[in-house]
Amino acid sequence: MRSCSIPHCVQLLLILTFSTVPAMAPTTVKVKLHQSADLICKQECPGLLKWIMDKQPDDILAHCNQTSCSSKEGYKISHDQYKNGDLSLTIMEADYSKRTIYACECSNEDICHVWLCIEPVMSLVQLKPGEDLILALPIPEPVEVIYNSSDTSGPRHQLICTVVGGSLQCKDEYTPRVSLRYPNLTLAAVNVSDSGVYIVRDRKNNEDIHVYSVSVGDTSLVWDTDIKQTSVWQILMPGLVVFLVGVAVLIIVYLKRTTTLADEFTTEMEPETVLVNGTFILH
Ligand SMILES: *[C@@H]1O[C@H](CO)[C@@H](O)[C@H](O)[C@H]1NC(C)=O
Ligand SMILES: *[C@@H]1O[C@H](CO)[C@@H](O)[C@H](O)[C@H]1NC(C)=O
Ligand SMILES: *[C@@H]1O[C@H](CO)[C@@H](O)[C@H](O)[C@H]1NC(C)=O
Ligand SMILES: *[C@@H]1O[C@H](CO)[C@@H](O)[C@H](O)[C@H]1NC(C)=O
Repeated sequence: MRSCSIPHCVQLLLILTFSTVPAMAPTTVKVKLHQSADLICKQECPGLLKWIMDKQPDDILAHCNQTSCSSKEGYKISHDQYKNGDLSLTIMEADYSKRTIYACECSNEDICHVWLCIEPVMSLVQLKPGEDLILALPIPEPVEVIYNSSDTSGPRHQLICTVVGGSLQCKDEYTPRVSLRYPNLTLAAVNVSDSGVYIVRDRKNNEDIHVYSVSVGDTSLVWDTDIKQTSVWQILMPGLVVFLVGVAVLIIVYLKRTTTLADEFTTEMEPETVLVNGTFILH
């Protein structure tokens, strides 16, 4: 699974190298979708502080001076922390539109670069043959749909569709079955051979957005097996009880018999004892 991959990092770094001086490698922050994210920057800033998205330098997300800080809706910065050398910016809720590189500037000089990534969303999908598989495309940017088959005989990893500018392109064998109705991409009437992993990937950033583990199976068949297992167990259970009771009865009978035998043995021994006693008496 690829997300926030190294080549992309290098690529961005190169862009930074030629666009801003001095350039620095961005640190990466990775959070789950809809979670808050802290863009960490720890440094003294005696002058004016400014946070921007690297690609939109005119849109100031937050700024601080010696008297106060202010931030746009959805972002948070603390004046107390700013005065104590912690210039970190909090993004209240990470969504796909916020995946980018952020820059922190102190008196118009770059001091921190932080790259915000969102972890791929994982889903488990259980379908019956004939049902439709719906994959969500949560970003307007170009995406690829990659299919990792769980069938080891065929190709393991293949690009099945791309969506660029709202237009859908699929491999020939998928074209008749796939349709797009934003934000849903639908693979119609799945069967057992469609089981596997479907990855929705951001093509530009080479980042996995959503990973669906799809299993297509006749669930009614599974249910039948369950029932069969239950009935087998229901048949076995009384038999087991009868067997255990039988064993218990046998043990009791056996114990009774050995006790009786021991009694008989003692009785048989008595004359000998008498004899011994007799012998003793004889002495
Ligand atoms: C899909 O398959 C490729 C190549 O076999 C592998 O590198 C990748 O990790 C797989 N992805 C998932 C989500 O299973
Ligand atoms: C500090 O910034 C605030 C707005 O955030 C502004 O009203 C104030 O005038 C600024 N103070 C100084 C000294 O620049
Ligand atoms: C997309 O799929 C979801 C179910 O996964 C459904 O609730 C929604 O109505 C669909 N949207 C469109 C535009 O078809
Ligand atoms: C499932 O679909 C594939 C391709 O559409 C087809 O080759 C295969 O025979 C189908 N399998 C079943 C069990 O219907």
